[in-house]
Amino acid sequence: MESKSAEPRKVLVVGGGGREHALAWKIARSPLVSEVLCAPGNAGTRADGRNVAVAADDLDGIVRLAVEEECGLVVIGPEDPLCNGLADRLRARGLAVFGPNADGARLEGSKLFAKELLERHRIPTGAWRRFDRAGAAKSYLETLSVWPQVIKADGLAAGKGVFVCADVREACGVVDTLMEEKKLGAAGDQIVVEEFLVGQEVSVQAITDGRALLILEPVVDHKQVGEGDTGPNTGGMGIYSPVPFLTQRLMRQIEQRVMIPILHALRVEEIDYRGVLYAGLMVTEAGPRVLEFNCRFGDPETQATVRRLSSDLVPYLLAAAENRLGAEEPPEWDPRACIGVVAAAEGYPGPYRKGDPIRGLEEAGACEDVVVFHAGTRTEGDAAVTNGGRVLCVTALGDELEDARTLAYGAVDKIHWNGMFCRSDIGRPRRRGPIFDEGADDAVEVAHGGSVEPGEGADGAPIA
Ligand code: AMP
Ligand code: GLY
Repeated sequence: MESKSAEPRKVLVVGGGGREHALAWKIARSPLVSEVLCAPGNAGTRADGRNVAVAADDLDGIVRLAVEEECGLVVIGPEDPLCNGLADRLRARGLAVFGPNADGARLEGSKLFAKELLERHRIPTGAWRRFDRAGAAKSYLETLSVWPQVIKADGLAAGKGVFVCADVREACGVVDTLMEEKKLGAAGDQIVVEEFLVGQEVSVQAITDGRALLILEPVVDHKQVGEGDTGPNTGGMGIYSPVPFLTQRLMRQIEQRVMIPILHALRVEEIDYRGVLYAGLMVTEAGPRVLEFNCRFGDPETQATVRRLSSDLVPYLLAAAENRLGAEEPPEWDPRACIGVVAAAEGYPGPYRKGDPIRGLEEAGACEDVVVFHAGTRTEGDAAVTNGGRVLCVTALGDELEDARTLAYGAVDKIHWNGMFCRSDIGRPRRRGPIFDEGADDAVEVAHGGSVEPGEGADGAPIA
């Protein structure tokens, strides 16, 4: 597919984690791109572009860099700079930006904003109540007879703001921690108490220019640190795609009840949203329910997305940035399955070790159909050393999920550093709840990818 602006351009990727390495890797393979810059990048992005030592939250530095380097596209990875208005500032300088302005980023930056928007537009989500006083929250919790309940801090908390509470005592403890002790600062000034949802979790991401939607292949991210989906939540310990339990009928429901309505909701609110709409969903017995919206690509979901996307990603990023996504043809997807195993540093998701030299990267990267994406790494001399909790994401493609698993774990076995650990069951989820739709139709192999105008389904039928 040809982009309208065929002149090769410099692309700046903002961020330095696994998602940004995956984006830089994919973008660097585009004939539309002359060079990829990463700010700040990591030890892995050096292979796909030029790292520039500007932090993702240094908004002045990023704007200066993008202007001075005359970047033809800026792709913003993490949520913090989006919520702090980086996209607004870059757009004010006339740059093409992939990522929503601060008003759209509130979808992720404020759980209350998101919940209120979902409610106003009747988008299915768990029942909830908001509180801005600890006393009122605790009185409410004491009236509840159904447990567990979920407590969420309103503001951004780097994945540490959601608490699944088994009983009233635990829940009141969380309220005190957030609202009295202010453990998460202003992020916990207001809280949401939400119904606990049972089902299968899945991430559905779409690229949008605010008018058209390009729904990407769904991905499952194993959020919990322990085998069998147990233990504390993390940023994500591994991914798989495609998602066998997502039937075509379920994908259609998600498109029609969640993705198209949220885009419509943003338009009604007069929010010009250009970037990724990421729905974290629980597929329950009663259908899909939104757990959260994110305003950016998932990490590590993106690592699977770029491995499975056969088409060039850049035309879609540019078209979204330039409000002309509706004119793009749907992309092609590799029908093979992808598994991504996150290798983490000892201690993660708590305080973790840093600075350990990583061995075996070349051997792992040379394995058939394997790409090793760096996340928390930096270079010391010529060597890569650990520099984050999630250090690498080792991805592999295979005809079936099991084939991809074998290849991915074969590559993981070649990598070593002191304190390295990973889950051994990525791609083999614990059956948490009922599987819906069993036998209703075939599992989605190549799911969506068409552009859909709000108000229409994929086949042009009106939304129910
Ligand atoms: P969130 O940041 O809102 O997606 O929450 C982080 C994780 O907590 C999710 O990925 C789920 O695994 C879990 N979670 C959040 N809300 C709920 C809920 N209402 N019911 C069950 N689990 C939840
Ligand atoms: N993998 C979860 C997230 O990106 O929020």
